[in-house]
Amino acid sequence: MSLEVVILAAGQGTRMRSTLPKVLHPIAGKPMAGHVIDTVRSLNTSAIYLVIGHGANQVRSTLTGDDLAFVEQLEQLGTGHAVAQALPKLSENSQVLILYGDVPLIKAATLKKLLTHATATSMGLLTVNLDNPTGYGRIIRDAQEQVTAIVEQKDANPEQLAITEINTGILAVTSQQLHRWLPQLSNANSQGEYYLTDIIAMAYQEGTLIETVQPASSAEVEGVNNRLQLAELERVYQLEQAIALMTAGVTLADPARIDVRGELNAARDVFIDVGCVFEGQVELADGVEIGPYCVIKNAHLGAGVKLAAFTHLDDVVLAGNNHVGPFARLRPGTHLETNAKIGNFVETKKVRVGQGAKINHLSYIGDAEVGANANIGAGTITCNYDGVNKHVTKIGAGAFIGSNSSLVAPIEIGAGATVGAGSIITRKVDDHALAVTRAKQLQKANWPKPSKKQEN
Ligand code: UD1
Ligand code: MG
Repeated sequence: MSLEVVILAAGQGTRMRSTLPKVLHPIAGKPMAGHVIDTVRSLNTSAIYLVIGHGANQVRSTLTGDDLAFVEQLEQLGTGHAVAQALPKLSENSQVLILYGDVPLIKAATLKKLLTHATATSMGLLTVNLDNPTGYGRIIRDAQEQVTAIVEQKDANPEQLAITEINTGILAVTSQQLHRWLPQLSNANSQGEYYLTDIIAMAYQEGTLIETVQPASSAEVEGVNNRLQLAELERVYQLEQAIALMTAGVTLADPARIDVRGELNAARDVFIDVGCVFEGQVELADGVEIGPYCVIKNAHLGAGVKLAAFTHLDDVVLAGNNHVGPFARLRPGTHLETNAKIGNFVETKKVRVGQGAKINHLSYIGDAEVGANANIGAGTITCNYDGVNKHVTKIGAGAFIGSNSSLVAPIEIGAGATVGAGSIITRKVDDHALAVTRAKQLQKANWPKPSKKQEN
């Protein structure tokens, strides 16, 4: 049987107090519903239906994929009504997994277990025991421990309210079962809603076995209704990533103070200090050391790279043994060859820095090539922009650029050339030549200093 997934995401999320639809609020930089979608993608689904309502247009434009189809629920008349909107699209004979877009941390392993029970004669129901079950639907069992029904909090009697096994809302059935049961739902209950949970009693009455499965951890089935719960699940998610990193051989100064908002692959003996944020795709080779409070996005850091505190990297390659920072900002297209060094308050963009070259202090180097072992003095600026176009600066191997120089691009500084401090270079400097453009120093001996004006 093929597998179809229905994700409920039409609810308003009033308690988020947000203009952003609830299911688009991010965990680790990715919309909550995106986590659910990516998890089910690993299960080999034939279709994923997202039932949307509040903020439908925003949800449609944010969550995309060829395997994703949207079903609009114009009025939110209950979870049963929501699934019924997808019913005409479901195949004749498939397994159907029902999930919530605001329960983001559900794991594929749990769903696989649940799906083993979605057969012609049985269905799977994900339940959990909670110390405080308030608000949830309660699982009712008969004397033989068979599940017979789910009763919602608002419809439950005191005896039922004492039950601590609750409905997570996640279940696995067949499309044939849904076609049989959903048309029979009624809204004759305290909330006037079509409850999906009423299918449980229907299953029991027709002799379909209701098999329950529990998640490995209750965080898997926790929903987000407000920003506090969003923050709590963010921490759960981040701690999982931290544990995976430590298991892979990374030392974390504090597993509670790292945020991975993308994919971080780290080799052995990597050290990451507190407060670092990783975004997009980041690769850290053996022995990389990352100082505190660095932000690293889409980067490859070769073996032995050391980043000092407050370094910001975006779309860069550091080949190996590079020292960068503190307070350095390497922007898209920065490529450091091995042993190149970047110091404090240096900004680079679209630049290739050759082996062993140094840009140690207070510089802007953009649209440039810096040759091997070149030394770029403090305060050097590549003037790459004429107000309309960007131009390239080429600095040869072993060149020495004196402090506080402006290199007006397009410009070429030859190999082994020297630029005197304070120069404004507008014409090519030949290999091994010295270029200086600073004004000659003037000196007046025994110059009388101005004296303070007398007030009268
Ligand atoms: C539901 C279950 C309850 C369970 C709880 C777990 C029912 C009747 N009750 O209750 O047994 O313990 O979840 O969290 O199913 N939604 C729609 N359209 C609607 C209504 C809801 O898409 O018309 C979506 C919501 O966006 C949400 C999910 O379905 O993602 C659950 O809806 P919610 O209103 O939170 O259900 P609960 O009353 O909490
Ligand atoms: Mg709810």
